[in-house]
Amino acid sequence: MNLKTKDKVLAFLEQNRGTHISGAKIAAEIEVSRNAVWKAIKQLEIEGYEIEAITNKGYCLSETNSQMSAVGLIEQLQTSFKTTPIYYFETIDSTNKKAKELAIEGASHGTLVFANEQTAGKGRYGRSFESPKDTGIYMSLILRPQELMFNDPTILTSYAAVVVSEAIESLTGKKVGIKWVNDLFLENKKVCGILTEAVTNFENGQIEWIVLGIGINLSTSQEAFSEEVSLKAGSILATSEKEINRNQLVAKIYEGLLQTQKELTVLEVMEEYKARSIILNKRVLIQQGKKDLYVLIKDIDTAGQLIVQLDNGELKTFNSGEIRVVLN
Ligand code: BTN
Repeated sequence: MNLKTKDKVLAFLEQNRGTHISGAKIAAEIEVSRNAVWKAIKQLEIEGYEIEAITNKGYCLSETNSQMSAVGLIEQLQTSFKTTPIYYFETIDSTNKKAKELAIEGASHGTLVFANEQTAGKGRYGRSFESPKDTGIYMSLILRPQELMFNDPTILTSYAAVVVSEAIESLTGKKVGIKWVNDLFLENKKVCGILTEAVTNFENGQIEWIVLGIGINLSTSQEAFSEEVSLKAGSILATSEKEINRNQLVAKIYEGLLQTQKELTVLEVMEEYKARSIILNKRVLIQQGKKDLYVLIKDIDTAGQLIVQLDNGELKTFNSGEIRVVLN
């Protein structure tokens, strides 16, 4: 099977999602035989694409088909982003790991790695991030600080939490909240985690590149998680709800991360961030090393630090390296 033909057929179906196109028309457009189109369609179906075939009307890729691919993502991107390097994997150990390897090899700002499944997804604090196939989004973006407005990793991560929340809300209608620093929650369950990794030049102390990794449980069933993780992790869409096009969500997040930050100040980002915070003005448990204490969350400052009030009335400021907020 000629891969190129399959990709061309897919690109054409993506451009015409929801509309039936005859095999003859597709064949003429991409200049291959009708038999080659038929073979490509069969291959795409094996790979999980829902393609409706109706006699005398033709083929149609369903509006909500959620299979991801580089071709499908590129179709969703605005023209100015269509040329950035994109790597898609059906399965990979970790998109952050792959992105770091690419960054070391000199990959450019905006290079994206995304996958349908991760076998060794990485979380913060050396934990793993369970990444079941077909229902989540696992993506890592390479950023070069000189191209960024927010090159402080904490602000960048806060900004990413805002961008991802807004993208999820606009495509699914679900309003997710942010748990400091960068977990997204829906109905008391974590539905998204963000891991920012940076490499600093030893000699001049400057950040050389940042890999921003985002993992989203989009329509993952509770059974797909281990017993331990399923107690805390949830999903944005219930399995009974209509699926959405995952390529579209990746595209929205990707463009938001690269584009909108040019238009916002740090203050505006942090205002948005605070508006979505699920811990602000709440009494929560924080862990500092082995020490647990209950505090009232008073504010989050423009450096992304948490300002808390202790029981004796004293105010203290913590950064994300110093404490962890524990929910439940
Ligand atoms: C956390 O919640 O602790 C952060 C989770 C980050 C997971 C994402 S999934 C895509 C990227 N690749 C990884 O290995 N990790 C990040």
